[in-house]
Amino acid sequence: MSLTKRPYKGTRDFFPKEKRIQDYIFNIMKSVAHSFAYEHYDGPLLEEVELYKAKSGEELINEQIYSFYDRGERFVAIRPEMTPTLARMVAQIHKEEPRPIRWFSIPNLYRYEKPQRGRLREHWQLNCDIFGAPNGEGEFEIIQMLITLLTKFGANNKHFSICINDRKIVDKVFEHILKVSGELSYKLYKIIDKSKKVSSVALDKMIDETALSTEQKNLFKKYIQSSTIEKMNSFLSENSQVDALDDLNKLFNDAKNLNINQFLTYDPTIVRGLDYYTGIVFEVFDLNPQNPRAICGGGSYSDLLKIFGEKPLPGIGFGMGDVTLTDFLKTHDLLPDLSTPKNDLFISFQHDDCRIFSFKLAHELRKADLRVVSNFSALKFKKVFPLAEKKGAHFVAFMDELELRDQSVQIKNTQTKEQKSFKLNDIESIVSYILQK
Ligand code: HAM
Repeated sequence: MSLTKRPYKGTRDFFPKEKRIQDYIFNIMKSVAHSFAYEHYDGPLLEEVELYKAKSGEELINEQIYSFYDRGERFVAIRPEMTPTLARMVAQIHKEEPRPIRWFSIPNLYRYEKPQRGRLREHWQLNCDIFGAPNGEGEFEIIQMLITLLTKFGANNKHFSICINDRKIVDKVFEHILKVSGELSYKLYKIIDKSKKVSSVALDKMIDETALSTEQKNLFKKYIQSSTIEKMNSFLSENSQVDALDDLNKLFNDAKNLNINQFLTYDPTIVRGLDYYTGIVFEVFDLNPQNPRAICGGGSYSDLLKIFGEKPLPGIGFGMGDVTLTDFLKTHDLLPDLSTPKNDLFISFQHDDCRIFSFKLAHELRKADLRVVSNFSALKFKKVFPLAEKKGAHFVAFMDELELRDQSVQIKNTQTKEQKSFKLNDIESIVSYILQK
């Protein structure tokens, strides 16, 4: 029996065509992160399961984690997310680092999911996080960065929206309005998290099955239905809790001043599935219903460093997945044409005696950082251009007996069709001709 050629379920082989798309996406991610002065970091693929048990939440631990015992009987997991690793790393150095600490990474992560559109078992995720920023400033910067990033890809507010909420509002509603705590409030969080993913009948059923009184159930439903800042404001003021909206109001105001508020939507059902969030939380959605999964999710977490015995240091960040982002960019036709590779020059020769001259020329041009495709054997003239096109070469060089005699090379611009002859040793002129494009 022969082996399957397919990759493991829920993972992808990246052939050059797909890898070009991923490289394009990662390059934009890196350049935007650098433009906000975020520094690149990375961590290990394996972590002890304990790290995730501390704060990531039941769903991740019970249903999604890839875990096993290593040969030394340590219970380890392939990282399902980066935030716990990041917190562990920041806990080691935060006392020496000037604040705020701004870091980014693009790790691959594993989650045991049912593969479907927008969900795989391996994905890459841009993580941008800031630690130790003054109250509210980190939140605003992270949102700004997210908008800058998506607009760099060519997206606008007709393509996506950032849905925002604040867990402090939910906590206040639970504590002061519903007057619930502990296990029950944890359950209610999970119901809010699922509320938009299930039908209204299923939602009512979930609420009915809780231990809430009829009055509490009505208040809980009212919370979920307060779908604008204004509605939430009146719900909270009816119950004397209006100051719960302060941080969110500040964020929306700052966004208005930078004229980026059109990208933001208030959404009381955003609470996030991960347990460590304590303040502002958000998810980015494609406005095209073809892609219902969030492109990105994040929020602020004030207590994550405590699990390492450190004093709390507020952090805020987001994770943006490559699977959902690629679907988003493809749906809105925002990817450039990456169907062929991009090279500067295809060097061919038509007479065997030119071989070593063509290699010498390639050698010199690569020193000038040009992307050069060498052809290894003499090539019939009519085959040169179709092959050069497949290799994505902007220029084509050819040498035959005549060129061999006077030590020259013909170089043709495949776009403008201009063709010029150069002396083989005049590398400078060849480079500037090619760089002009
Ligand atoms: P998350 O919401 O679990 O957050 O994931 C963030 C994003 O990663 C999602 O919105 C989605 O784009 C992508 N993603 C997650 N799981 C999958 C999957 N199975 N297949 C494809 N894409 C996926 C976190 O992971 C947080 N640690 C993010 C964070 C960073 N919060 C603060 N800093």
